[in-house]
Amino acid sequence: MNFQKICILGLGYIGLPTASTFATHGLKVVGVDINRHIIETLQHGNIHIHEAGLRTAVESALSSGNLTVSLQPEEADAFLIAVPTPFFEDRQGEYQGRQYRLADMRAVISATEAIVPHLRKGNLVVLESTSPPRTTVDLVKPILERSGLKAGIDFYLCYSPERVLPGQILRELIENARVVGGITPESAEAGCALYATFVKGEILATDATTAEMVKLMENTTRDVNIAIANEFARLAEKFGVDVWEAISLANRHPRINILQPGPGVGGHCISVDPWFLVETAPELTTLIYHARQVNDSQPHFVLEKVKQALGSLKGKKITALGLAYKPNVDDLRESPAGEVVKLLQKEGAQVKAWEPFKPEADVHEVHMAASLESAIQDAEALLLLVKHTEFIKLNPHEIAAKTTARVGVDCVNGWDPQQWESAGFKIFRLGVHQ
Ligand SMILES: NC(=O)c1ccc[n+]([C@@H]2O[C@H](COP(=O)([O-])OP(=O)(O)OC[C@H]3O[C@@H](n4cnc5c(N)ncnc54)[C@H](O)[C@@H]3O)[C@@H](O)[C@H]2O)c1
Repeated sequence: MNFQKICILGLGYIGLPTASTFATHGLKVVGVDINRHIIETLQHGNIHIHEAGLRTAVESALSSGNLTVSLQPEEADAFLIAVPTPFFEDRQGEYQGRQYRLADMRAVISATEAIVPHLRKGNLVVLESTSPPRTTVDLVKPILERSGLKAGIDFYLCYSPERVLPGQILRELIENARVVGGITPESAEAGCALYATFVKGEILATDATTAEMVKLMENTTRDVNIAIANEFARLAEKFGVDVWEAISLANRHPRINILQPGPGVGGHCISVDPWFLVETAPELTTLIYHARQVNDSQPHFVLEKVKQALGSLKGKKITALGLAYKPNVDDLRESPAGEVVKLLQKEGAQVKAWEPFKPEADVHEVHMAASLESAIQDAEALLLLVKHTEFIKLNPHEIAAKTTARVGVDCVNGWDPQQWESAGFKIFRLGVHQ
């Protein structure tokens, strides 16, 4: 198949790097977003998201004339859908007393509907948004067929999951293996041909529902594995064991690779995607459901640790170090650190948070400090919630001179307790009995 022009719906963390990569590889790309601010920002040559190398890539795609942006899709050889698929905040499902989250597919529905008037014979449509199993065949296909064209006969339809790591998106888009699932083998072949424009990793053809499952299985596996690490941390505290030492010893076994415990699981992928499996088959997902419960309840376990360190939290001044959902990123979405802060405040603690990757963040009900110094100066305890490199590198002797705190609670195994204790701190560690 010969693709000359493509239309990409959704210009966020996935859609914009994808659009600029296709454009810098010679295709004409129309990037579409319903957010007028995003379109205007791009039309002025700026970008609205932080991603290494993206500004340069978008600038060169725009200046070559290969990338244009618009509020509306238009006729093209292929359409890619990369719109958000969060869960509903205000609705839940229930199965045998278990509450579960429901995928909010409204953006996928409206993006698909927007393609219908422009769909022509021989076109290819690819859904990239992470979606519950069978979304491509049960949700997207019937909408596209309102055009009067038959999927798999008149046009090709695929699902292709995105597996890039924020911070390395542009490199991984090209180098990672890509799974392309078609509703027919011909659709998969067309999808593979499109991604061959720039993908240097293997391009692996399958059917659409398998491709959807692949993405959900990847993120669910990580969620379940983190849940067991968190449960090991709880068990270690009960049995007087240091979980970090125990994990590192267990991982010397050639076939064991236990992940690290922490304050919980956040972000917009791993803490969301397992729900897409629970929602579509609650009777088959006992383990996945309970792993979500363990990870979602981990901030409560941190709360107990802080109480162990400080006793009653009423009026206690605590500095929360880190609010991002993982180390060295500025993304605060679904962050368990934010949840910990809220739980501490409910117990009457006065919490100041310092997030070096997003100091200006406006987080609902959280007092954000303007600097590390102002965050720690009159604190009673320092609570390490995210393993940002700059937190790990803190010199405890220098910190001791800048803060009244003499208690540290380390939830991520970021600080050497002996060093901090030699600087006068009493250190409490998640997953370690004290
Ligand atoms: N960000 C990641 O690292 C990552 C990794 C793998 C998979 N994904 C998945 O990719 C999808 C997109 O994620 P993202 O991080 O790029 O989201 P995002 O929120 O950064 O961007 C999505 C964009 O889509 C736009 N949009 C919403 N409805 C639209 C519509 N009807 N038409 C056109 N544009 C519309 C929004 O305005 C927004 O700019 C999600 O399903 C996500 O789970 C993301």
